[in-house]
Amino acid sequence: QTVYILNGPNLNLLGTREPEIYGRETLADIEARCRTLCEGHGFELLFLQSNHEGQLVDWIQEARTSACGIIINPAAYTHTSVAIRDALSACEMPIFEVHLSNVHAREAFRHHSYVSAIATGVIAGFGSFGYVAALEKLAQDVGA
Ligand code: DQA
Repeated sequence: QTVYILNGPNLNLLGTREPEIYGRETLADIEARCRTLCEGHGFELLFLQSNHEGQLVDWIQEARTSACGIIINPAAYTHTSVAIRDALSACEMPIFEVHLSNVHAREAFRHHSYVSAIATGVIAGFGSFGYVAALEKLAQDVGA
């Protein structure tokens, strides 16, 4: 079974980007943790990051026909992208939305997510542990 973990714009800068908000871990650190977990569950993992909305839409469409679940941190596109929401809506599988920071405790423009209403579950403010929690829940949901 294949899991897509998708990361949106600027998450390639994790580790040095506003560390007081996003922590000191890099995206590679988070990927390594996810890989270990996926091996334990027998999941094939595609862990991807893009700064481009259309690229994320392409990957979601790919996942639609090949994955058992999607974990996505859409980053800033959370608050702007109807295209990413529509692509996710076309996927009949568990979808977990993850944010490192507690978006609800931040600026008002981060309080609305286009994705949350169509997500299976949402995690915010758990730091990188949010990815771990989402993966464990996905494993439970798909029986891996
Ligand atoms: C984020 C929160 C978003 O509001 C922000 O644009 C990001 C990261 C998070 O993981 O906390 O880039 O998705």
